[in-house]
Parts: sequence; C-alpha cells; structure tokens
Amino acid sequence: MAQQTRPSALVDLRSDTVTKPTPEMRDAMRDAEVGDDVMGEDPTVQQLEAMAAERMGMEAGLFVASGTMANQVCVCTHTRRGQEMIIEENAHILHFEAGTIAAFAGVQPKPLPSVRGAMDPADVEAAIRPDNEHFPRTGLITVENTHNMEGGAAVPKENMAAVIDVGRRRGIPVHIDGARIFNAAIALGVSPGELVAGASSVAFCFSKGLGCPIGSVITGSREFIAEARRVRKMFGGGMRQAGVIAAPAIVALESMVDRLGQDHEHARILADALAELPGVTLDPADVQTNIIIFEFERDDMDAQQLVAGMRERGVLINPRPRIQPREAERIRVVTHSDVSREDIDHAVAAFRAVLAL
Ligand SMILES: Cc1ncc(COP(=O)(O)O)c(C=O)c1O
Repeated sequence: MAQQTRPSALVDLRSDTVTKPTPEMRDAMRDAEVGDDVMGEDPTVQQLEAMAAERMGMEAGLFVASGTMANQVCVCTHTRRGQEMIIEENAHILHFEAGTIAAFAGVQPKPLPSVRGAMDPADVEAAIRPDNEHFPRTGLITVENTHNMEGGAAVPKENMAAVIDVGRRRGIPVHIDGARIFNAAIALGVSPGELVAGASSVAFCFSKGLGCPIGSVITGSREFIAEARRVRKMFGGGMRQAGVIAAPAIVALESMVDRLGQDHEHARILADALAELPGVTLDPADVQTNIIIFEFERDDMDAQQLVAGMRERGVLINPRPRIQPREAERIRVVTHSDVSREDIDHAVAAFRAVLAL
C-alpha cells in the first residue's frame, strides 16, 4: 500500500484521525450503490450496519456521523433526564464531548477511578444508587475500550465481563465506548464480540485506526437500535445517500482491521526510544496499542517547546490536555495507517535530536 511505505514530508503523530482515505476507499465511494437512508433505502449503509453488528455479536447496527454522536445517541437512548451514569473518571464522554450528557441527555456523571481504564466491578456495584427519593437513579454504566486518556490501554476482557455482569444483575444497561475496540481486541488477542459480550450497546469508529474519512456505528439489540434511530433523527443525524461514506467503512472492516497490530508495533518502537530520553517518564510496557502518553518535565524545556522542536524536524505531536487538577504535563503520540516504519525511525531521530542533553 503506497501509504505504508512513503517517507512523509510531515510525520503526523497528533492523532489516528488524520489519515487520508486509501485508493480502495476512494474507489468504493465512487462506485457505492446508494438510496435514501432515512427511508431505509441505502443498500450500502444497510450492508455496513449488518457487518458491524455481526462483528460485535449484536443484532443490529446504526451508522452515525461521529464517535461523539454515537456515544451521545446511546446515552440519550438508554437514559432519562435526571438520571446518573457511572463512568470512568478520565473518559472521553466525560471530558471531550462538550458537556453533551448534561446538555442533551440531561444526566449527571458518577465518575469512578480506574486502573488504566478498568474500573473495579465492586466500585461500580457500590456506585449504583439505592432507591431513595433524594438520589438520582442510576441509568447507565459506561466503559471505554481502548481508553484514550490512559494511553490507549486495553481494558481486559475479564474486567469488561465483570462490569457488564454488574449491569445485568442490577438491571442497568452497559454502554461500551469502543471508538478503538478493534485495537483493544487485537492487543488482548480476543475477538471484539468476545470482549463486549453481554453489553447493551457498543459504539466504534471508522475514522480512527481504520482510516476512514468519516463515520461511526452503534450496535445493539434490534429494539435498542430502532429507538436509537429515532434519537439520531432528533440529533439531525438522519443521512440520505450515505452509502458514499458507508462504502469506505466496508473497505475498512474488510482490510484495515488486521493491520492494526502494525500500528501497535510502531508505538512500541517509539515508546522504547522515548523512555530512554531525559525529561520523559514512560513505562513502555504500558503501551499496548497505538497511543503513547508520557509525562514531560524538564527545567530547560516545556511541552510547547518540545512540540515546536519536533515540528521543525517535520514531526507533529500534541500536548495531552490537562483533565484533572494539578496533573503533570503530558504529551500524546498516536500511530496509524499513514505512518510507515521509515516515519517512525524519523520520529525517533527527531525526539533524540530535540531532547538530547
Ligand atoms: C474513546 C473515544 N470515544 C469517542 C471519541 C469521539 O469520536 P469523534 O471525534 O468521531 O466524535 C473519541 C475521539 O477521539 C475517542 O477517543
């Protein structure tokens, strides 16, 4: 694949959302059979939704514009206003979705600590509100896998199963923000279906590691998806000839999943090199997938200067925004399908040059 081998003018490690569609995706977009999807007439969207559901072991799927829309449609569909949702304290839904759980769903968060995204199932159970008119009702439990702000940590299958079991026993739906669920499954050596077994809904993204220009999908029971479809319409997310954007997602499911291990390998090479450099605090063993987050502290340089120095050498990286008070400064580096092995070598050399004592 041309994108795998070219030495880039700029090596863009800011996010796995920066990828450009592959030639196969462009062809698929051009050739897609389409219809009005709000009228249920787009065969390409329907094919994608069925494929996505099958991969997650769910009955049905719903194509949406973004990961944020996927999560928020799910939160709105599962909950009622005034309820509380149990959520890991550094979760994307809590910090990076513009306050939508409050603004649209009208629910409040009950944030819980975790070990790299894995909440203690006993904490989850204890956080469920007893029946008391003073308390909000617990309407939802969410799990993020992989966990973005925890450096792409893959939440283990046993932990997922235990949290999902709490929800099932207590009659509370469990939503999985699986924006990068295939990265998690590959890192853990399980199928995505096994990883999310028993969950009420799973959202995942095509426009991250899978390399698509747009799109996410929600999967769940037929009944849940029928209701989510209404909620998507309320969000203005009903799309017409959406087959043109569903088509590259089909290409991605068929050809971009198995290659994710290569992004993980690239991240490990970067992590091993970074861990040796002065000012960087990083345990390479924590890098399980395609995201590296490291603490950066030096007397002679701050994170912005590191970012600027890397840019001068043709490598784009970003500081990871602070989401908790008094957190150390952190940098986030992400590998993806538009980053070749040569690009990784170039990035390692650039980090060494900028951070050399
Ligand atoms: C874990 C997680 N969930 C959801 C999203 C939202 O996706 P989008 O940017 O497509 O709205 C992201 C985006 O980075 C994410 O990392």
